[in-house]
Amino acid sequence: MICIVITIIIFVDIKVLCDLCTNMDSLQLVSSNKIFGGYQKVYAHESSELKCKMNFSIYLPPQADGDNVKLPVIFYLSGLTCTEQNFITKSGFQRYAAQHGIIVVSPDTSPRGVKIPGDDDSWDFGVSAGFYLDAVMDPWSKHYRMGSYVTKELYEIIQSAFSNLVDPTKFGIMGHSMGGHGALVSTLRNPGLFKSVSAFAPICNPSACPWGEKAFTGYLGKDKNQWAEWDATELVKKYDGPPLTLLIDQGAGDKFYKEKQLLPENLVEACRSVGVPVILNLREDYDHSYYYISTYIGEHFDFHAKILKA
Ligand SMILES: *[C@@H]1O[C@H](CO)[C@@H](O)[C@H](O)[C@H]1NC(C)=O
Repeated sequence: MICIVITIIIFVDIKVLCDLCTNMDSLQLVSSNKIFGGYQKVYAHESSELKCKMNFSIYLPPQADGDNVKLPVIFYLSGLTCTEQNFITKSGFQRYAAQHGIIVVSPDTSPRGVKIPGDDDSWDFGVSAGFYLDAVMDPWSKHYRMGSYVTKELYEIIQSAFSNLVDPTKFGIMGHSMGGHGALVSTLRNPGLFKSVSAFAPICNPSACPWGEKAFTGYLGKDKNQWAEWDATELVKKYDGPPLTLLIDQGAGDKFYKEKQLLPENLVEACRSVGVPVILNLREDYDHSYYYISTYIGEHFDFHAKILKA
């Protein structure tokens, strides 16, 4: 009798341990290309949060070619219509990641290969428009959990599968547009998880712009209290974590900025009202594209490196 009980306890222990530790065996290498002395890789894996197969990219700078190095990590979250490919092929970030010795991880923008009625009717909702939140409405709530995917599942995969390379205490995050919203919200909802945060043309106040209203109604329902839990402008007003400076970058010629989809001024005002330091760089004539991002990505790496390598 005692024997059986002990056997069960050991069995449960092993199962719990295995759930916690992701090793390289659960990741399939999709591609690997040498760039600026390091390697730009893409891996596929079965996501437990999203219940589907997902790709993510990881850049291993030249400094990763050593035994037991401890490098900082930056997550980059992409915008609407993107996959993990846009950032790695268009931004030129690898030059700066190689210079600073920083690992860079970029997930896809929504669950993939899951068929939900209406998921590809529009470019700003459903496929490639996951908004980095955890949906509560049917039929989205089963798969559309990009919030937990990024801040729990992928975060833990990087810490365990690349444990010989990453410094688990030095994670930063950046993103573009919908991904800028994701970077801000992931940081503000989980104080201390990311030590540095910046965003290019982020959707700063989704509760008050057409993109956000559509996505939040679909994923979260009509309750505006739910919306506030995923809105950077609302979240910063009650931020109570370690000191944080938000770096916001915005092209002044950006069509979506002019159409009031992004609303950085609302976020800046909220930051000022509670004394959270914020930098807003308005870039004359730049638009919403990767031409703009590639111009300033180096400055963002300098900003993160200063904090993460302090
Ligand atoms: C992963 O990337 C490969 C190569 O681009 C692509 O063929 C595949 O469909 C992607 N898989 C997922 C789950 O997105």
